[in-house]
Amino acid sequence: MTEFTEPEAKLEALLGIINSSARQAIAEYKKTGHGVPSADATTFHPLDLATDTLALKKATRLLEGAYHQLSAILAPPQHTVMNFVFNYNWACTNVALRAHIADVLEQHPEGLSVDRIADAVGLDESKTARILRALSLMGCFKEVKRDVFANTRLSLILKSANNTGCYAHYHSRDVSKYAGVLYETMIDEEFSRSHEVDKAPRVFACRKEGMEESFWEMMKNDDERRDIFHRGLIGHSEMMGTSSVLHQYNWGDVSSVVDVGSGIGAFSMPLAKMFPHLRITNHDLPEVMVQARNAWEENVPEALLDGRVEFVPINFFEDIPVAGKDVYYLRHIIHNWPDAEATTILHNIRKAMGPNSVVLIPSSSTHSKNLAVAPEPMLPNFGAGSHRVYQIDLTMWFLLNSKERTLDEFKTIAAAAGLALTQVYDLVETMVIEFRIAQN
Ligand SMILES: C[S@@+](CC[C@H](N)C(=O)[O-])C[C@H]1O[C@@H](n2cnc3c(N)ncnc32)[C@H](O)[C@@H]1O
Repeated sequence: MTEFTEPEAKLEALLGIINSSARQAIAEYKKTGHGVPSADATTFHPLDLATDTLALKKATRLLEGAYHQLSAILAPPQHTVMNFVFNYNWACTNVALRAHIADVLEQHPEGLSVDRIADAVGLDESKTARILRALSLMGCFKEVKRDVFANTRLSLILKSANNTGCYAHYHSRDVSKYAGVLYETMIDEEFSRSHEVDKAPRVFACRKEGMEESFWEMMKNDDERRDIFHRGLIGHSEMMGTSSVLHQYNWGDVSSVVDVGSGIGAFSMPLAKMFPHLRITNHDLPEVMVQARNAWEENVPEALLDGRVEFVPINFFEDIPVAGKDVYYLRHIIHNWPDAEATTILHNIRKAMGPNSVVLIPSSSTHSKNLAVAPEPMLPNFGAGSHRVYQIDLTMWFLLNSKERTLDEFKTIAAAAGLALTQVYDLVETMVIEFRIAQN
């Protein structure tokens, strides 16, 4: 183990990591034959839309972690701490999303004056300018000349057709409200020590507004919110690079896959496109199955025509999934529930499994001994390079009083359901955990 005794040596080491990881990222972009992205780009780089981004994500995790650590050492602490709080990017982003500003600018690649932008979206001109200027500081929109704004590669994410934009929309509108009552929930007699779903900060915030629906009832009763949520889950894959599993798991050896709690098919749609030999079952609540069929008709009609996909409504607490399939895939399911409910879901799947079936669970990879460790002097969990992973863990708490589990926590609930860990795939921000029927 290297010993960094001198503070300056640590700074030098961090600079070295920044340099080498930036060069790795540049090399990944260049490998596509399309060069590196430009700060002035107004289109996506082909690698932005790729599913196999493991090498780029490895490099950018180091880069983000090391430069945050370096700037936290070199900047005055007042700056760094106030930067945590002086951060209304989420509110400005929410305005840009809901007013469809990026869609308006799409027609004006050379830029549009803020009076015309404000006119087109029905907002006040000077307030719109302040919002766009604040976002432009971060490279999201560009002020091409005073009071004239254009899209950038970052603001394209805020177009209404963009899935990650839907994820940002959902977070900046709803989750921020729940985060706002966090401290109150931590000192409230009823909420503070509870890990039940109905004691989530979301419930606390909604009660104040006289709303008592559970999270899933709220989704059921609001078509627009449900649509944004499920499209946002496709965006979640794009953000976390979860689709790397399409390239890193041996799907050629598999013939049937059950997507348990499939949503509209954020995982199973690209899987069906890439591996047409697979027979796929989507399982979810009845209203989501209707939405899923529509999404498949639009995006993967060939799978419906070939009869290689089915949509079977279930309640995974009461029903057993279709039996004897090769893979039972649970993406963003277990992290929604406390241990008892999570174990019931796995137990019902265990009842459906054949002797060679596997359960695959992709999960945000919080620090765990089977996963990569950052080089010194970085924090072992990559520090700010793991920002999204730890924010998602908090999101689970705010929404559902649940969490991202460590590998050991997964092993415990799986063992209670009669399953044993057989493999861990490290996909940078995501780990995919494989379980089989426990032999004992
Ligand atoms: C966070 S979403 C994940 C969706 C999908 N796996 C994905 O990654 O996009 C959780 C899913 O669980 C479904 N769900 C919630 N309660 C359920 C239940 N009791 N039975 C079956 N599905 C349920 C929701 O409708 C939702 O689609």
